[in-house]
Amino acid sequence: MDRFESFISEEEIKQKVKQIAAKISSDYEGESLFVIGVLTGAFIFTADLVRELTVDVEGIDFIQISSYQGDRSTGNFVFKKDISSDISGKNILLVEDIIDTGRTLKKLKEMLLTRNPRSIKICTACDKPSRRVTELVPDYNCFTIPDKFIVGYGLDYDGVYRDFKDIRIVRPENEQ
Ligand code: IMP
Ligand code: MG
Repeated sequence: MDRFESFISEEEIKQKVKQIAAKISSDYEGESLFVIGVLTGAFIFTADLVRELTVDVEGIDFIQISSYQGDRSTGNFVFKKDISSDISGKNILLVEDIIDTGRTLKKLKEMLLTRNPRSIKICTACDKPSRRVTELVPDYNCFTIPDKFIVGYGLDYDGVYRDFKDIRIVRPENEQ
């Protein structure tokens, strides 16, 4: 059995999401925002965040990208799902569950910039800055975390545990 250690409670997450949404709403006051969630991990955070924003949300879409199998370290990616909207001239908020090396978001940001949005900012639920191999820094971050593997609130370990309402550190069975 995988073991878990409590890390961030449901209540702490709710409060932080409200705070970040208020900051974003004030930064974009008088403007519209187009939100792009990074699948699959950001589906819950995106849903919570957009419902707390008071600024005009002109659209919500999702994008999915993954590393070529067996090639994670080189950062070669395959696009699995593209957005279906034209983002030119729009203020884009790219929403992610966690930033680790930063490769995924660097790649996504570069690709989206070729489509001439008015602006792109990054909002992440969690950030592990100690693991970064790129210069990527999120514009909005709920929780800065140490180099531990976490699950819940959309984050998975091998496809499971995304449905937990809180965030936990997982100690997999084969590593105990
Ligand atoms: P990056 O390209 O290295 O920044 O990878 C970010 C992706 O790695 C996230 O979208 C997650 O899918 C995954 N990831 C990194 N750390 C964790 C973790 O602690 N728990 C679950 N997924 C993680
Ligand atoms: Mg992910």
